[in-house]
Amino acid sequence: MIEGLSRPSRLAVLVSGNGSNLQALIDAISTRRLKAEIAVVVSNRADAGGLDRARQAGLPALALEVDGDVRSVYDHRLAQAVAGYEPDIVVLAGWMRILTLVFLGRFRVLNLHPAKPGCFPGTHAIERAFEAWRQGEVSESGAMVHWVPDEGVDSGPVIAWSSVPFEAGDTLETFEERMHRTEHRLLVEAIAAVIEEPQLSLTQETSSP
Ligand code: GRF
Repeated sequence: MIEGLSRPSRLAVLVSGNGSNLQALIDAISTRRLKAEIAVVVSNRADAGGLDRARQAGLPALALEVDGDVRSVYDHRLAQAVAGYEPDIVVLAGWMRILTLVFLGRFRVLNLHPAKPGCFPGTHAIERAFEAWRQGEVSESGAMVHWVPDEGVDSGPVIAWSSVPFEAGDTLETFEERMHRTEHRLLVEAIAAVIEEPQLSLTQETSSP
């Protein structure tokens, strides 16, 4: 519960794909590890698995597809739709579309990025980290949750992050599996921490389990 609020914090969760991170939030809320509620799930893709997961959990699920809109027009539509659910925090959980200040200026928005702070911004971060490891350029990757104050891609004050070291014999599949497990844990921890301390941003790595 955010300080001063006498009700659980309301999350709006934006997804573009499978929604395994959304599922981690749904599960953490249902087992009371996360004291929040999901007010709405929105996707820019009507076929996103995340929308099915939301419906199965009995949550409002909206598809808001891009229809040739210029960015600011889409973001205004999105903001209007999300605002109707009065979220305290907007969570970008596998949301694959850059948002402008038309949206960002209206909400407290946090994003999950599958790499360490400052590393592999943009899409396919997991694959690019794996390739960098194969080339001997890195020995670990990681995941982070950060605030999204502006249109910068996968930048912004860090709330929590964890490293994910490569292991001998890793394939993209084994690495990806560890990455996703880390993301699922980190997202829940970061939102729980922000609910406790709304202005939170850290510079230290959060501990692994
Ligand atoms: C995650 O790796 C997220 O960090 C990235 O896209 C993936 C989404 O996974 N941006 P899911 O849709 O939550 O399963």
